[in-house]
Amino acid sequence: MDLAGLTRDLEALRDDALAGLAAAPDAAAVAALDVDVLGRKGRLTGVLRGIGALPAEDRPTVGAIANTIRGEIKDAIAARGRVLRSGELAGRLAAEAVDVTLPGRPVRRGTYHPIATTIERIAEAFGQFGFVVYEGPEIEDDLNNFQLLNIPPDHPARDLWDTLYLDVEGHLLRTHTSPGQIRVMQSTAPPIRALLPGRCFRYENVAADRNFEFFQVEGLMVDEGTTLGDLKGLLDQFAQALFGAGTRTRFRPGYYPFTEPSVAFDVECLVCGGVGCPACKRSGWMTILGAGMVHPVVLQSGGLDPERYQGFAFGMGVERISNLRHGVGDLRLYLENDLRFLDGFR
Ligand code: DAH
Repeated sequence: MDLAGLTRDLEALRDDALAGLAAAPDAAAVAALDVDVLGRKGRLTGVLRGIGALPAEDRPTVGAIANTIRGEIKDAIAARGRVLRSGELAGRLAAEAVDVTLPGRPVRRGTYHPIATTIERIAEAFGQFGFVVYEGPEIEDDLNNFQLLNIPPDHPARDLWDTLYLDVEGHLLRTHTSPGQIRVMQSTAPPIRALLPGRCFRYENVAADRNFEFFQVEGLMVDEGTTLGDLKGLLDQFAQALFGAGTRTRFRPGYYPFTEPSVAFDVECLVCGGVGCPACKRSGWMTILGAGMVHPVVLQSGGLDPERYQGFAFGMGVERISNLRHGVGDLRLYLENDLRFLDGFR
């Protein structure tokens, strides 16, 4: 092998490598060619093995040519790599393109349950008069639910509050939030202004206007010199806050064992404005709660001296208030978890 022959071989290797690069389809092919031509056991090294056979004076010339060719191939490898990489990137960008102008996927947001919202509104209205929210347990004992509220065993009034009894002797699901009155009086010194919202239960013939599970908000105020007039003024303000300024209200005599005197509190019919319609049974009025002056026996149950303290209490059905505010005709809907109904309160 002479100088001219070796030079030809080197040039042939370069031309072959450059052609191979031009045809390389992807970065992996370029990398393979790099190893094949320039690698330690590659084709360039193979050709240069012929140097040993050359006369000593020719060797630097071949060395210089080999270096130039290695440089050319290296540059070509780098250039081809860049071209292929940018092509791949462009391809991916095109394939994985995101249209940022598309409308987003709607996120289904939850909302407050109408019962929760109504309790909130009631608490807000009484909160303005200093009433603070308390909570009593849903499982009560006979003592708090009945006896301490002046409803002794076998009292006929118990028929109004038949309920579900637990296997645990003397325990039941509370039939109203009124036992909370006893708990508050026993744990809090007057003046008391308590609001007690919560879930109640009854043994009930379920219908559009009664359910075996429902919500009430109880109110209790105890102080020295509290009067029925205070109760009347407070409830009137409450009605204005919930049903609009100018809503007419009235007291009617009522009966509850735990209050004396007892009243029913009516607001003018929100459907007909008080002229009389089927919704109010032509009376022009709708009863929204029961109330009265706390019975002296109940004050004593709460550990308070009836000679010194007077109080009033009231209790309302939350579903009934919500029905009136939203024009709902069937209170069973509130606990059926039907989203078509609940979505209407967004
Ligand atoms: N607890 C009664 C019921 O469930 C409602 C009630 C009436 C509560 C008069 C009171 C009240 O505090 O004074 O029917």
